[in-house]
Amino acid sequence: MELMEVWSLTGLSKEIREKWERYIKLIDSALDIFLPCEKEEPDVLYKAMRYAVFSGGKRLRPTLTLAVCEIFGKDPKLLLPQAAAIEMIHTFTLVHDDLPDIDDDDFRRGKPTVHKVFGNDIAILAGDALFACAFKTALRGSIPDEKKIRILKELTNALCYKGVIEGQVADILSTRKNPTFNDMIFIHTHKTGKLIESSVMVGVIGSDAPTDVYPYMRKFGQNLGLAFQIKDDLLDAYGDESKVGKKLRKDFNKASAARILGIEKAEKMMKELVEEAKDNLRKAVKDRGEFLEILADFIIHREK
Ligand code: IPE
Ligand code: IPE
Ligand code: MG
Ligand code: MG
Ligand code: MG
Repeated sequence: MELMEVWSLTGLSKEIREKWERYIKLIDSALDIFLPCEKEEPDVLYKAMRYAVFSGGKRLRPTLTLAVCEIFGKDPKLLLPQAAAIEMIHTFTLVHDDLPDIDDDDFRRGKPTVHKVFGNDIAILAGDALFACAFKTALRGSIPDEKKIRILKELTNALCYKGVIEGQVADILSTRKNPTFNDMIFIHTHKTGKLIESSVMVGVIGSDAPTDVYPYMRKFGQNLGLAFQIKDDLLDAYGDESKVGKKLRKDFNKASAARILGIEKAEKMMKELVEEAKDNLRKAVKDRGEFLEILADFIIHREK
């Protein structure tokens, strides 16, 4: 299975690269196990789902889940089904986000988008199937049912009402008006922030972390999510298409942080959010969060 060399672009140390690579290998093998085999009929559906998932994503969200689980003293493998489910949900949002009636994008992760290869009809349904498969997958594994229900509650809360889908709708509506700073914050914290926040919280819930760390870890995830989308907007403004793997300079009619704040202020806001994220992480785990702090800094320095 192909591993993305995200780290080659960001100067991460060998030790950190190897740790992240170990997480990605675990996540990719779990995805391979939990996604339907592409020899099943209708094979076009399962080929499209697998094409979307195995096209070289950074696996940031499931990595957050596993790394948080490990920090709170549990074997990260315990949460592999739930981490794989999060990557399926993330991939579903990308497949639909790229459709002609939404962002109309031809490239994703350096490859033609799912609808370009399989057609719009199959892409819509492959997205639907990934979403459904995610919930089936999140119910797998050996953690107690009570914990699975709490994780499902966390994920479903992140998705619809005041969640990712509402953020995507606000993103679309923002192209029909002159979006404000507050519109941008709402869109970014919902379309992108909610799933990143939940990726952290699934690790917290699944590892039986003490409840007094919950608010700090949630704030950590929220800040990372907003910073992540600000960087996505900055990459749209100044990134290198060959590294980012998607079409750039597309967000000028959107509530992009680069458009609303300008590059300099957007960079400053992103860095402050990451610092505040790390402060909250330290309140929760003291000096045990080195890998997560490096992942937080990666958000700032990433080139893809
Ligand atoms: C892209 O997310 C979509 C946004 C929420 C900005 P990622 O940059 O994490 O995409 P992959 O999974 O690495 O391709
Ligand atoms: C995507 O935001 C957010 C979700 C898919 C939920 P963008 O539209 O900015 O993401 P990219 O730039 O296409 O990856
Ligand atoms: Mg979009
Ligand atoms: Mg898009
Ligand atoms: Mg974008």
